[in-house]
Amino acid sequence: MSEIDLFYGKEGPTPKQVLFRDAPEKYKLFGGGVGGGKSRALCAEAIRLSMLFPGNRGFMGRNESEAFRKTTLITLLALVAEIEEISGQKLIAKQGWNQTKKEIDLINGSKILYGGLSGPDADERIKSLEIGFYCVDEASECNEDVINMLKARIRWKLPTGKYPRFFGLYASNPEPGWLKQTFVVPTQLGNPLDEHLFVQSLLKDNQYLPPGYLDDLKRDNPESWVRRYVEGSWDAVEGQVWPDFDHSTHVFPNLSSDLEIPPPPKGTYRQFAAIDHGQTNPTCFLAFYVDNDDNIFVYDEYYQKGLVSSHCYNIMSRFDVTSFDYILADPSMWGKNREKEGRAWSVWDEYDEYDIYLEKAQNDKAAGWNRVGEYLRVDPDHIHPITGKQGSPRLFISARCVSLLSEIPEYVWKKIKERNSNPKEEARKLNDHACDALRYGVMSRPSPYDLKREDIAPVGSFNYFRQQTRSNTKKGYMVNV
Ligand SMILES: Nc1ncnc2c1ncn2[C@@H]1O[C@H](COP(=O)(O)OP(=O)(O)OP(=O)(O)O)[C@@H](O)[C@H]1O
Ligand SMILES: [Mg+2]
Repeated sequence: MSEIDLFYGKEGPTPKQVLFRDAPEKYKLFGGGVGGGKSRALCAEAIRLSMLFPGNRGFMGRNESEAFRKTTLITLLALVAEIEEISGQKLIAKQGWNQTKKEIDLINGSKILYGGLSGPDADERIKSLEIGFYCVDEASECNEDVINMLKARIRWKLPTGKYPRFFGLYASNPEPGWLKQTFVVPTQLGNPLDEHLFVQSLLKDNQYLPPGYLDDLKRDNPESWVRRYVEGSWDAVEGQVWPDFDHSTHVFPNLSSDLEIPPPPKGTYRQFAAIDHGQTNPTCFLAFYVDNDDNIFVYDEYYQKGLVSSHCYNIMSRFDVTSFDYILADPSMWGKNREKEGRAWSVWDEYDEYDIYLEKAQNDKAAGWNRVGEYLRVDPDHIHPITGKQGSPRLFISARCVSLLSEIPEYVWKKIKERNSNPKEEARKLNDHACDALRYGVMSRPSPYDLKREDIAPVGSFNYFRQQTRSNTKKGYMVNV
């Protein structure tokens, strides 16, 4: 008896498809770059759930009916034919495929309904469905409301009176929207929703693609396309202030690495902090350190609404503020726009009263955006301080900094409609408190491209080491040892 799961065809599933298949969560997203085997996995699961539970009923669809017919339906029928051929058994009942009703009856009494998920007809159809599972391909195209409606239709009872295992399955390329917010962002932040699983699908995980396919895509497409559709980056959003930001490069731990960015050992590295104070908005405090190779690590954050007194109390209990060389803040905090006992009083005075001494940040926004961008950029010559590999950015953020990490990918340029205006003039003013604090902190460090010159390499840095030995030894400074 062969070990191969024939529902995935004669070669069986890829390891990522196995992960997707075996996870017990009710809602599962197989999402990522092109050609990862997502559509095939959805089709295999639809067939498997139909065959596993005789008399089951499932729905397969895509936002537009026609797009489904031309893509996923073809994959489904080809897979059915392949399984029929290797098993020598029919799966589809005699005259079981009704193209008008968009239904496929299987030999064991199960039925797969299929079609589009948009338009009034689709709405009516979905409202009257009763199903045991659904599979939505390119799910990010769909409206979240229609998906919520589908979820509510999962209640099919088998002819035996028992319920099948219920599943809501999705496949998608990395696109912004509800799907990303529901599956990807919570997983990236280490806190997936209950009964939700995100499996990242990458082209390189699919061994069934033609040789050279990956290289051709990389060669023939622009870099941002490659980042999103080949490398499967969910962070590549149109118009980002920091397009180089990528979870698996800048954040530790991440979906594929357990390595941590620990708080700095006492007295080792230069430490500093930055605060963006909000009157009614949240206040964000970020703690940084810099290693001998001028890599910047943001190792923790405080992010909350409230009064200065409670911010100060919380910051002091979370951090040893005496370990910071300086704490930077928005210069507007020095404005004496408050009054206390008849005296003009600033927010700075208030922090000072609670023994948090703040210094003025350099608040040139354009320069700050640019500097953060420089630190996020991957320099092919730089050694990664955490993995030790060559080719690395110089800014790293701990997964503890949940608010900062949710703000960065959403931090996009405001679209300015008027003619002759530079569209990159202003970042959109929406939840940018942590991004502002990041900008203050990073702006206190020199441009990495000035630092890169070997003749000014600081003692103990990688460049210093390279300068001393003139060898090609590729070893960075490990934060994790
Ligand atoms: N388990 C498998 N066995 C054999 N071939 C497979 C398997 N999984 C995927 N493939 C093949 O790999 C190719 C890509 O698979 P598929 O179309 O499912 O990818 P996808 O992730 O949906 O791609 P896209 O992002 O373009 O929609 C197809 O030719 C498919 O038949
Ligand atoms: Mg597909």
